[in-house]
Amino acid sequence: MRAQVGIIGAGPAGLLLAHELHRARVDVVVLELRDRAYVEGRVRAGVLEQTTVQMLHRLGIGERLAREGIIHGGTTLCVDGESMRLDFTDLTDGGAVTVYGQSEVMKDLNVAAEQRGLEVIYGANDVMPRGLDTAHPSITWQKDGAAHRLECDFVVGCDGYHGVSRGCIPPAERATFERVYPFGWLGILAEVPPCNDELVYANHSNGFALASMRSPTRSRCYLQCSLDDRIEDWSDERFWDEFSTRIGGKFTARITRGPSFEKSIAPLRSFVCASMRWGRLFLAGDAAHIVPPTGAKGLNLAAADVAVLGAALISYYAKGNSADIDAYAQRALNRVWKAERFSWWLTNLTHRFPQMDAFDRQMQIAEFAYLRGSRAAQTAFAENYVGLALE
Ligand code: FAD
Ligand code: PHB
Repeated sequence: MRAQVGIIGAGPAGLLLAHELHRARVDVVVLELRDRAYVEGRVRAGVLEQTTVQMLHRLGIGERLAREGIIHGGTTLCVDGESMRLDFTDLTDGGAVTVYGQSEVMKDLNVAAEQRGLEVIYGANDVMPRGLDTAHPSITWQKDGAAHRLECDFVVGCDGYHGVSRGCIPPAERATFERVYPFGWLGILAEVPPCNDELVYANHSNGFALASMRSPTRSRCYLQCSLDDRIEDWSDERFWDEFSTRIGGKFTARITRGPSFEKSIAPLRSFVCASMRWGRLFLAGDAAHIVPPTGAKGLNLAAADVAVLGAALISYYAKGNSADIDAYAQRALNRVWKAERFSWWLTNLTHRFPQMDAFDRQMQIAEFAYLRGSRAAQTAFAENYVGLALE
């Protein structure tokens, strides 16, 4: 097989890039390890920045999002039951985020891919990029007992944190930065109305809690948990009891309890592979960087990478000029580091760390007090949360 660009991974980064390129008549093939139902079923991101929403509209994939997405003009931060609302619309001159689940984004991307004849190969095993430091890279894989090969001009690794692409960069040329947090997030989905009409991020002495949603009748709630915890340790009753304690104040009284139909634990990590290009390989999304979910930035960063890389590859094919693809890694990283900083900062502000002492706790409380009293601090929060402009 032959394509101009071979994409590994059909998550948000891979399919967004495929649509960007296909729209500009750049020929792409996407190779995905799992099946379509798995990729569409993963419950992950829930908050889309304005630039991500605009991208989906630009790609002609925003129709259901416009109908079903819930626009949030603010969010609430809570410390030990005392709450403060940050009004994004006021603080950022009309800014807002949209609540729309990653699995809905994936369904919309896949339906459009099918309609447009985009080639997405699910169930591709042993995917391996080859010849990345030559002018003729290729990707090999196995499917249904047969060996396959795609020849292409460029390979884009959109295969997430555990994918194969990043490891193809020789260790000596792979600059990585990492922070692993000593806790995880336990998340549930339940068919009950959320306890607030916007998100609530709560810092409680027992640990962090987040009240989010997928619709006016479906709650997505998270608790900071120990990395040793297992799902079986957390009955629904225990979850709701702890969630009620941590979320605090007027929100506790508004909780509707109900059985969870999804429950999972995710570890928290900050990670950047600053080598987002090596030879004819580009990395985009979680393959290149991970943020803790606290700032809701992961999927949005993947979309931002794709916006820059898509435009660069299109310009390469239109003008035969490699200036934009050469600038990709640095342009993408400029934004990546800012999102890393915000997600790290918000994680530090809202979570309970095992080694925290009374002084550390006072620092968190003082930071909240400063946010409460300073419009400048609130503006800094709001502009990061709704999403920084694409540079
Ligand atoms: P992925 O979604 O990981 O997709 C990679 C794809 O590559 C997968 O389909 C995988 O099967 C495939 N793949 C892997 N290895 C191979 C291989 N060897 N061969 C072929 N294919 C392969 N982000 C936000 O923006 N907002 C939020 O509110 C938010 N909340 C989150 C909450 C939780 C609990 C978690 C865990 C994450 C959250 N995120 C959020 C992060 C977001 O889900 C990720 O950043 C996003 O999925 C990244 O997309 P991606 O396409 O880069 O990678
Ligand atoms: C979610 O709804 O899944 C969600 C919302 C906000 C976050 C993280 C996750 O910061």
